Amino acid sequence: MKTAVYPGSFDPVTMGHYDIIKRSAAIFDRLVIGVLNNSEKKSPLFSLEERVNMLKEATKDIPNVTVESFEGLLVDFVKANDSKVIIRGLRALADFDIELQMAQSNRMVAPDIDTLFLSTSLEYSCLSSSVVKEYASYGVSVKEFVPENVLPKLEEKLNVKSNLKP
Ligand code: PNS
Repeated sequence: MKTAVYPGSFDPVTMGHYDIIKRSAAIFDRLVIGVLNNSEKKSPLFSLEERVNMLKEATKDIPNVTVESFEGLLVDFVKANDSKVIIRGLRALADFDIELQMAQSNRMVAPDIDTLFLSTSLEYSCLSSSVVKEYASYGVSVKEFVPENVLPKLEEKLNVKSNLKP
């Protein structure tokens, strides 16, 4: 049974994340999504519980995916899930520096855990949770960029209604 872990803040989950989730769930027997209980990013828009629940709802039709939260070191969470593989999506060269640094530091403390990078699908290559939040806060439709269940939550949280919605 090969298990991979896909970690992130997911504030909120975007279609870019969803794309990586679907593709890695097709490669591994089991995919555990790890939602960071951020201490660094002090004020996420969505609470940990909201982020976990949105992910659970968005991935409910992918049977080998589970969603959990974690605190502390990622490599400890990976080990606790009997996994040796971390999945990360790469959008562009700008991601590479920080992602390589994270992968290298994780290997320094846990040499048997590898990071596997999937290139983000082209249509989501400029997408991020921050971009989605910024657009949505100005009432621009982000319908194409987040899973269906996330849209109303985002509008409610930001107190906006997307003006481009049909
Ligand atoms: O979606 P994000 O915010 O880019 O995800 C970043 C994440 C969660 C992968 C990273 O912050 C992380 O692994 N945090 C846990 C703490 C840890 O293990 N740090 C050492 C890695 S450099």
